Amino acid sequence: MRGKFITFEGIDGSGKTTIASLLHKKLGSRSVLTFEPTDSWIGRSVGKAIEEGRDAITIALLFMADRREHIKEIEKWLSEGKIVICDRFMDSTFAYQSEHMNMENAEKWLRTVHSPFMLIPDLTFLLRISPEKAMERIKGRRHEAYEYEDFLRRVQENYLRIASMEKERIVVIDAERSKEEIMERCLEILTKRNLI
Ligand code: TMP
Repeated sequence: MRGKFITFEGIDGSGKTTIASLLHKKLGSRSVLTFEPTDSWIGRSVGKAIEEGRDAITIALLFMADRREHIKEIEKWLSEGKIVICDRFMDSTFAYQSEHMNMENAEKWLRTVHSPFMLIPDLTFLLRISPEKAMERIKGRRHEAYEYEDFLRRVQENYLRIASMEKERIVVIDAERSKEEIMERCLEILTKRNLI
């Protein structure tokens, strides 16, 4: 039987990486934990392009090239019946790059580029947190290019707009709760939808 594909999304500092790995621990070897950008040379090139301040369209194309390759791996795991848990996926591109690209109809263009190789997750958890709290959480770590409060606020607005258009697939989770409460809520939803 084909596996299930679950993605975690949210602004930097939302805690999605912690929850994704807790879920993987809970599900054990039935599941695969993966993330984007990947640690392949294509995935690493995105970080390099951001560091070098490359053009926003170049960066968007690199994120999508990385995803195209990643989807092939994800498809393989799904065909083996695995529950694939992915820390960031296509919604990250729609939410972040449409903000970064400063281009009219950016999200529409991003969706068009994606259309020949789109893989729709069975469920997406969007971890929602106030940008102030998110900044507080990431204060100690090395600043990445997108980790500024105003930018994250706009990215989160994009995420919430996308979630309001795809109410069935995207479940918004209050990420200001404890990780135990967040896990409980995620497990409850996954069980209800027969995904685990
Ligand atoms: P991470 O903090 O989850 O490792 O993600 C690294 C950064 O990459 C984060 O600031 C979000 C950004 N990102 C995009 O802008 N677009 C994408 O498609 C992905 C996957 C990540």
